[in-house]
Amino acid sequence: MSIQEASFVSREEQLYRTLTPTSYEYFLEGRKYLPGSDSRSPLFHPPYPVVLDEGHGCWLFDVDGNQLLDFTGNHTSLILGYKHPRVLDAVQRQLEKGTAFPGVTVPQMRLARFLCERLPSFERVRFTNSGTEATMNAIRVARAFTGRHKIAKIEGGYNGSWDDVMVSTHPSGEQSGDVLRPVAAPASLGLTSHSVDNVVVLPFNEVEAAARLIEQQGKHLAAVIVEPVLGSAGMIPAEQAYIDMLREVTKRLGVLLVFDEVISFRVAYGGAQEYYSISPDLTCLGKLIGGGFPLGVFGGRSDIMAMFDPSRGRPQLPHPGSYNANPISLVAGATTLELLTDDVVQLLNLRGETLRRKIRTAFEDAGLTAQVTGLGSLFAIHLTSEPVKSYHDTMHANVDLRHRIFLSLFKEGVLIDPRGVGCISAAIGEAEIDRFVDALRAVLRKLAGS
Ligand SMILES: Cc1ncc(COP(=O)(O)O)c(C=O)c1O
Repeated sequence: MSIQEASFVSREEQLYRTLTPTSYEYFLEGRKYLPGSDSRSPLFHPPYPVVLDEGHGCWLFDVDGNQLLDFTGNHTSLILGYKHPRVLDAVQRQLEKGTAFPGVTVPQMRLARFLCERLPSFERVRFTNSGTEATMNAIRVARAFTGRHKIAKIEGGYNGSWDDVMVSTHPSGEQSGDVLRPVAAPASLGLTSHSVDNVVVLPFNEVEAAARLIEQQGKHLAAVIVEPVLGSAGMIPAEQAYIDMLREVTKRLGVLLVFDEVISFRVAYGGAQEYYSISPDLTCLGKLIGGGFPLGVFGGRSDIMAMFDPSRGRPQLPHPGSYNANPISLVAGATTLELLTDDVVQLLNLRGETLRRKIRTAFEDAGLTAQVTGLGSLFAIHLTSEPVKSYHDTMHANVDLRHRIFLSLFKEGVLIDPRGVGCISAAIGEAEIDRFVDALRAVLRKLAGS
């Protein structure tokens, strides 16, 4: 660390550094081969992320021997916790048979059946390696089916890392324009203007304004893609009236409604679509459905999905992929879903509610202002005094304080996402929730007193 850097180092960061010297060495070494020493940019946080070595249940261990109570579940992917014995066993049995095959496998049919039984809107599905590929194929088929080229997405919505949805994911105040008529802002360099110009950006939870925008663009719109709970923007649930409006307007205008349930699937046995009683035309899942291995799925109405069918002649939409539907991910996912019964989902949701309530009280008791959002077993902390109903409402939150809380929680042995979001896995019980809240209270007391 240079002297210049050191002069900006907060007390929380100094403590973090003293706990993580080996991670820092890896960071310096890793930067020689990997830009930023990693391959997953949202996980970077200053001064450097720790290098994780092992996970077990709800515990993570880093290379310095820090033991962390994990409230990330690899960012909602490991709903049963790390190294669940039943998942490991299923994977082990599949490993002995083979890891990938040049053809159809039984685990694929089994998980497809599970999913179609679980989500009534899934008449047909196809597997991918990631949520990104799932949304990409869903949008492509929506364009092919409707013959239209534009899509509408939500401001602050994250629907994967391919070009057409890397628009207005986290725009700054200057980029975003009018609250009720957001501007399409590229979320990355390297996008073509074609990608950006084809996106209509909708304000979240603004029923009339969003309906107007969809109606104005209706004849050009192939799809509206929406996360029923905005995930990376900070676990912000849609209001029922907003989702109802999306369903009504899209149906009326012949626009396909695509639910991106990569994160929200966990909020009910049949996903957020069950919670909101809405049947989308297409749905994308990822993360938890792979049970800790890379997997995505998209599916929905059979008349739309038939465009991928190669058994009736040349498919209208090809869907290649060397590792599509790889059996390791499929058996890990199927075992996870078997264990994720309705009762387990309800228990997780109850714990989520308890945690959100206790976090709110901890902030109130410390005299600090925060908004705690979430649904089911998802939660987020926004350091702002205004109610949070959309990404726009988070724009002025205190990210510096959020970072100090994140680092301080680490020191107390608790890990959440650096962006202040988290989730509860089935490995977390009442005792772990209390441990989190005690740690948070200790952190807030120190911060309030500093
Ligand atoms: C809502 C949502 N959609 C899509 C994706 C992309 O999934 P993946 O990271 O598997 O490509 C993510 C990833 O965080 C997500 O949160």
